[in-house]
Amino acid sequence: MRLAPQPSAQTLRLLVVLLLTFGVTASPVISTGCPDRCVCDDQLVVQCAGQHLTTFPVNLPLATRQLIISNNRIVELPPLALNYLSDLVYLDCSNNSLTEISESTFGNLRKLAYLDLSFNTLTRIEDRTFGPLASLVMLRMTDNPGLSEIHPDAFTENENLQVLDVSRNNLTALNITSLLALPALRSMGLSGNPWSCECENEDLCLWVHLETFKFQDEGQTVCGSPAEMQGLRLGEVGIQLRTFCHQTLGSWDYLFFVAIGFVIFAAGTVSAWLMGVVMVLYERYIKRKDEQLENEDESSEAAHVPMARTERENRSLKTSLIV
Ligand SMILES: *[C@@H]1O[C@H](CO)[C@@H](O)[C@H](O)[C@H]1NC(C)=O
Ligand SMILES: *[C@@H]1O[C@H](CO)[C@@H](O)[C@H](O)[C@H]1NC(C)=O
Ligand SMILES: *[C@@H]1O[C@H](CO)[C@@H](O)[C@H](O)[C@H]1NC(C)=O
Repeated sequence: MRLAPQPSAQTLRLLVVLLLTFGVTASPVISTGCPDRCVCDDQLVVQCAGQHLTTFPVNLPLATRQLIISNNRIVELPPLALNYLSDLVYLDCSNNSLTEISESTFGNLRKLAYLDLSFNTLTRIEDRTFGPLASLVMLRMTDNPGLSEIHPDAFTENENLQVLDVSRNNLTALNITSLLALPALRSMGLSGNPWSCECENEDLCLWVHLETFKFQDEGQTVCGSPAEMQGLRLGEVGIQLRTFCHQTLGSWDYLFFVAIGFVIFAAGTVSAWLMGVVMVLYERYIKRKDEQLENEDESSEAAHVPMARTERENRSLKTSLIV
């Protein structure tokens, strides 16, 4: 039962198509042609590698499925132009001068399966950077010499991620909590980073130890610090670190020891005091007893002396009688 006439799905679709068409013709960056210095084929592959480009190509076909802009000097991926390409499956941006990718850079690329950001100058990866890439299967982000920080939740939403390569960056630590939860992840590249082999990285080292088969170039995945562990493989120190990092005591342990110490001290003091009291009482008791005995002795001596004397006298009397 329809009370008021509603716009049918067809009208809506038409409206969207119209809007898109206008948007496309109005947009300076998108067309059905092919960008300067790029080669576009009918398989929807756009090839712009090694063309000395310093900016992201304009005039990209809207339906582009593969875009290769490697070996240029592009400094920025403009979110607006990139996110028009909602059918993009493959994006190779390797060997450029990208310093930053933001939360909105890949905001609309839900079909993207392959992304290559290697050989750039990225320094850090934020929380939501790859969040919208729900179909991402392979992410290559190697050889960014200044890349020293990846947010713990950077890959949390990439449920289809199978291959992650962050080799030859400047990473010292990596929180693997969200990586462990990725169901499809089967290959990791971590080699050539100055990994810290201290307790902060204990989980990572233990992971490499337990699932060595997952790690590409595991032999080159080595500690950069501390000095005495330099060059040791992460897989090698995994167990060692586990035991080492868990023998130290937490603040609750110290509190426990302080409490136990106090209890023992208190118990000792109380029992010593009790013992002292008992001894004093006992001594007094003994002393009183002695005094009583002495008193009794004195009084009985006084009473017994005449008797004793008479006894002695009697005895001497007897002997004298016998004699
Ligand atoms: C990067 O691109 C430049 C050309 O812009 C090229 O000369 C160089 O060999 C490339 N480097 C790598 C590692 O592919
Ligand atoms: C790598 O990181 C360290 C600090 O962790 C920094 O001192 C060094 O300059 C970085 N290297 C590069 C190439 O940015
Ligand atoms: C790793 O990240 C998770 C989630 O952000 C956090 O709860 C956890 O404490 C982190 N682990 C370490 C060792 O920093």
